Amino acid sequence: MTFDRSPTALPAGYRGRPLTADDRTALLDLDTWAFPDPHAVAEFDDLPLPLTWERTVGVEPVDAADGLAAIHASYPFSHFPVPGATLPTAGLTWVGVHPQHRRRGLLTAMIDQHLEDCRRRGEPLSALFAAETAIYGRFGYGKTADDQRVSVPRGAALRDVPGAADHTVRVEHADRARHGDLVARLHRAPGLPVGPAGINRPGWATRETEELWESYWADPKSFRASGRESLRIVVVERDGEPRGYATFRRSLDWQVTGPRGTVHLGDVVALDPAAARALWGVLLDLDLMSSTDPFLLPVDDAVMSLLVDPRAAGARVTDNVWVRVVDVPAALAGRRYQADVDVVLGLTDSRLPDNAGSWRLHATAFGAATCERTDAAPDLELDVRELGAAYLGGTSLAALGGAGLVTERTPGALAGAGAAFGWPLAPACGWVF
Ligand SMILES: CC(C)(COP(=O)(O)OP(=O)(O)OC[C@H]1O[C@@H](n2cnc3c(N)ncnc32)[C@H](O)[C@@H]1OP(=O)(O)O)[C@@H](O)C(=O)NCCC(=O)NCCS
Repeated sequence: MTFDRSPTALPAGYRGRPLTADDRTALLDLDTWAFPDPHAVAEFDDLPLPLTWERTVGVEPVDAADGLAAIHASYPFSHFPVPGATLPTAGLTWVGVHPQHRRRGLLTAMIDQHLEDCRRRGEPLSALFAAETAIYGRFGYGKTADDQRVSVPRGAALRDVPGAADHTVRVEHADRARHGDLVARLHRAPGLPVGPAGINRPGWATRETEELWESYWADPKSFRASGRESLRIVVVERDGEPRGYATFRRSLDWQVTGPRGTVHLGDVVALDPAAARALWGVLLDLDLMSSTDPFLLPVDDAVMSLLVDPRAAGARVTDNVWVRVVDVPAALAGRRYQADVDVVLGLTDSRLPDNAGSWRLHATAFGAATCERTDAAPDLELDVRELGAAYLGGTSLAALGGAGLVTERTPGALAGAGAAFGWPLAPACGWVF
């Protein structure tokens, strides 16, 4: 893995190299330059790194022996959920450039290398969480999913769901030996959280490597600095079978008016509506707590329909996963569509020019799709960035058209393709990667 083949070479004076476990200290030092952290690198001694080393790359100054100038890595998602299917996807992560070396083109060269590595590995998509929204559009990533940040008051009323009372509840210290299998199994169940059978939630990536799981279950000292307790778990079971779980950490603030605690949620997963109702019933009624704060809640999560007063949760919407279509025909033929569609898309792509030009997409509702090169004139024109934004079904092509980002050349094409590209469940990933 070198930058020799990269369309954008590294600027003069820099070289790239694969990183290994021996680079741990240098990597953490670079990361804490890019993302300021109150802890010294030595304080991360009990922090397992979630990285796959074969997919972790550093950039260093040629003539300096003191550390890294930039890093990037990716997680292998071999089954990243896209509408109605899964596709191999590179989860771009740990992107950072030392302040001393910024704005010299290091990120640009790293992204071009990353896109080329995706092609080589047969990954038609790259996905990421963006630290700042202005960074990635220029590289063809589109904001494809949102989530909502809510704070649900303790004791908020929930609608009843038949069967919810049939669950038993376990509230325990989270422990990999005890809960590892059930968490891995429930988290990757299709249609989560609580989708109807057969309808998956696009973007709902699950951890696929031992390193990611090790990092998930670790409870390093540095995580406690914010006054939160160690990781806990609620499991709801029916007939002895786990049907849902949530991980959480509580924090407690004593005020003259009384205790004001917060339940900070991690994963919240339920296999069916009754399990969801049982789980949220526990999460919203923990002693000394005044609110329960999910982290990345899908915008259509079941709890917002269960709450009698959803407005009181004070939802704020923010961007979740961004997607970059790396291989247009593989990506467009690799998902399902929610309406019949036969449309010619005219694409631009400044970084991967063989994606550009006319592509004919043909699909039946919830059935197979094909995507082939064509000489036909486009019905719709858009950049690969907008294709990424619409790809998981949560951003409407028509809405992008309303912003002038998709141009309709054939009347009716925007309405037809817009309906087909949507999906019954809103896309979202439940954890930041
Ligand atoms: C964001 C970051 C990786 C950019 O690296 P860099 O090497 O400075 O980027 P480049 O020099 O390749 O910049 C390429 C272009 O993107 C622009 N750009 C880079 N970072 C930007 C940002 N945060 N906001 C807006 N534009 C940005 C540059 O101005 C440049 O634009 P130009 O081509 O019009 O001149 C680096 O500033 C960084 O590490 N920031 C802190 C950590 C972080 O946010 N990482 C991303 C995690 S998702």
